[in-house]
Amino acid sequence: MSKDILEKIKQQFQKGLEDSGGNLEKLKELQVKFLSRKSKLNQLLKGLKDLSPEEKKEFGPLANKTKQEMEGEIIGLIKELQQKKDLEKDWIDVTIPGKEEKIGHLNLLTKTQRDIERIFTSMGFEIADGPEIENEYYNFDALNIPQSHPARDLWDTFWLKNKDKNGDNLLLRTHTSNSQVRYMEKNQPPFQIIIPGKAYRYEATDANHEHSFCQFEALVVGDDISVANFKSIAEEFFSAFFGGKIEIRLRPSYFPFTEPGFEFDISCKVCGGKGCSTCSNTGWLEMGGCGMVNQKVFKAAGYKKNQYQGFAWGFGIERLAMMKYKVDDIRHFRSGDLRFVKQF
Ligand code: DAH
Repeated sequence: MSKDILEKIKQQFQKGLEDSGGNLEKLKELQVKFLSRKSKLNQLLKGLKDLSPEEKKEFGPLANKTKQEMEGEIIGLIKELQQKKDLEKDWIDVTIPGKEEKIGHLNLLTKTQRDIERIFTSMGFEIADGPEIENEYYNFDALNIPQSHPARDLWDTFWLKNKDKNGDNLLLRTHTSNSQVRYMEKNQPPFQIIIPGKAYRYEATDANHEHSFCQFEALVVGDDISVANFKSIAEEFFSAFFGGKIEIRLRPSYFPFTEPGFEFDISCKVCGGKGCSTCSNTGWLEMGGCGMVNQKVFKAAGYKKNQYQGFAWGFGIERLAMMKYKVDDIRHFRSGDLRFVKQF
């Protein structure tokens, strides 16, 4: 063994490093060639044991130092290149547009109901609630529609088999008017509320009728409430809801819980009142029933006769949505058809 051999190995190794040109595979080959067990250097190191003690002393540390230096150098290089390669593999192109997340949205009916609620709360109304499963008393009798009353036929009813704890018949409420007396029993005038919610009727469906639908009841009660108050509030609401000026019209009608009662029309939004197919060329669209609250209803609520006046109405929420968004069939709302749902 001589220093020259070690020097030569080192030089060859250095040259190999330069020739590898930073190629990872070539470096790994170089590592095997110069540092594996069968490499020349390792053979030399193995042969140390056959040397004389003096030679051992001279070459041992030198040979080991050479090996350590070579190892340090090549391992460092390989590690560095490997990391670079891994990074390249994991590289993310942050400029590629992301996948669009599909986010659900409110159903048109919910959106319409919330719009209605927002407009009324901004006008100082409160939002009240009532049960969908109702007894005969609040749905009919308290509203001056006793059992024998022919007007009951106006509301084809889904009756339930069970009775309530007082033995009264149960039904699915046929209108949100069921909540009028419930609310008044617990609250003293003056108040102005709307009661949005579902109602049910046992009837055949067509483009304008559903067995399940939504209404919103309005109830405004106080000392000097008149039809004039009612008209101005209704005008303000419909103008805010549809945008632009809306004319309203009241036609005499009959509901046992109103005195007087009216049918309520608004000027047709589609043709501006000139006449079109939506309004059957009348220029008017029917919204629902309304009227001054019958004193008999106040009596049922426990108010003194003629102490208060008030007005009420019950309008269909689907109807409003159909007019605003030009929906031609009420059955679309609950069809679950995504082609409809996604349009709004
Ligand atoms: N409840 C009636 C219906 O569903 C509509 C109605 C008429 C509600 C007159 C009222 C009212 O509050 O005063 O057909």
